[in-house]
Amino acid sequence: MRFELLLVGCAVLLVAAGEGCKLEKKFYRHSCPNAEHIIKTRTTHLVSSNPYLPAMLLRMHFNDCFVRGCDASLLLNSTAGNIAEKDAPPNLMLGGYGIIDDIKAQLEAQCPGVVSCADIIALAARDSVSVPFKKPLWQVLTGRRDGRVSIGAETFVNLPAPFFNFAQLKANFGSKNMTVHDLVVLFGAHTIGLAPCNSFSSRLYNFTGKGDQDPSLNPTYAQFLKTKCKSLTDTTLVEMDPNSSTTFDTHYYINLLQNKGLFQSDAALLTNKASKKFVLELLHQKRFFTEFAQFMKKLGNLEVLTGTSGEIRSKCWLVNS
Ligand code: HEM
Ligand SMILES: *[C@@H]1O[C@H](CO)[C@@H](O)[C@H](O)[C@H]1NC(C)=O
Ligand SMILES: *[C@@H]1O[C@H](CO)[C@@H](O)[C@H](O)[C@H]1NC(C)=O
Ligand SMILES: *[C@@H]1O[C@H](CO)[C@@H](O)[C@H](O)[C@H]1NC(C)=O
Ligand SMILES: *[C@@H]1O[C@H](CO)[C@@H](O)[C@H](O)[C@H]1NC(C)=O
Repeated sequence: MRFELLLVGCAVLLVAAGEGCKLEKKFYRHSCPNAEHIIKTRTTHLVSSNPYLPAMLLRMHFNDCFVRGCDASLLLNSTAGNIAEKDAPPNLMLGGYGIIDDIKAQLEAQCPGVVSCADIIALAARDSVSVPFKKPLWQVLTGRRDGRVSIGAETFVNLPAPFFNFAQLKANFGSKNMTVHDLVVLFGAHTIGLAPCNSFSSRLYNFTGKGDQDPSLNPTYAQFLKTKCKSLTDTTLVEMDPNSSTTFDTHYYINLLQNKGLFQSDAALLTNKASKKFVLELLHQKRFFTEFAQFMKKLGNLEVLTGTSGEIRSKCWLVNS
């Protein structure tokens, strides 16, 4: 009841002010008071048996928000005649869908039709990364609603590729109203997680098409990577932040400055004066954490559906009928 009033209030405001509703703190406090607690408890439990879960969920959040905003369009399954985002090549390595379904089922049992899949992704990503710190690393505002459209082809236009150079990265982030500073801070997310060899192996084996190695890649590190990645098509998973790939810290930037960034797009951050300056600043752990928190909030706000837009899916992989 209260929930409906809130929605009406927001819809009226929307018309009056000519703008969409904003996300807010604890949007579910009346409609599903335990929602955030359930998400946190379940996520924390699941992380204890899967140290790579935080990386999966963080990437899921990013890949969802950069295509049609943070609307859980990434979770929708393909249907006859439509290839959805999750089945497009840039997303094929993603995991963690089952985790979101698991959490959603628990929420539906308590408060059917109330908590959006889009909010579950945002909260679970934050909570999973935060587990070792025993406090939330960034604030997640809530009230996102779920989209009804997911188009695989949109991933190519919206998601940055690992071979992007600095200009391409800047343009990509610019298209989301994000700055070079945002870019450098958010890239720190690569302090956790794994990447398949074929997302960077041209740097090892065929950089300019002459069977050569990327000269900007640290030769010792390249040697090490070649022991893991045997060929251009190898899909073996390697740590993105060597020996620290389950620890959320500033190691990403330390490695990067030693020319040990894994992707061309990582190395690209050193090719621009302004972005290199930000890399140096972010070596300071406290600064990285503060700024990462601010930019996660910005990421989580991208083109969100609020008020009466979109819907609250009852199953995250399927639009309501
Ligand atoms: C800006 C340009 C970016 C590029 C080109 C990029 C590219 C990639 C690629 C190629 C992978 C390997 C996994 C795969 O092939 O699917 C990866 C993994 C990952 N990315 Fe990024 N990424 C970018 C930005 C971000 C941002 C902004 C975040 C989060 C806020 C992020 C979080 C992650 C995480 C956590 C992983 C590890 C996933 C896992 O272990 O399952 N990335 N990224
Ligand atoms: C939806 O897709 C996932 C894989 O992305 C698959 O595991 C699941 O079975 C699908 N669900 C349905 C109902 O088709
Ligand atoms: C970027 O900002 C412009 C102007 O405020 C706005 O119209 C546009 O929707 C924004 N784009 C995104 C992706 O948020
Ligand atoms: C290396 O790249 C060149 C140019 O793109 C291509 O012709 C050649 O087949 C590649 N070599 C291998 C081993 O794939
Ligand atoms: C990771 O740790 C191992 C064992 O301590 C060490 O031999 C290796 O060089 C390290 N890898 C990198 C890339 O730093």
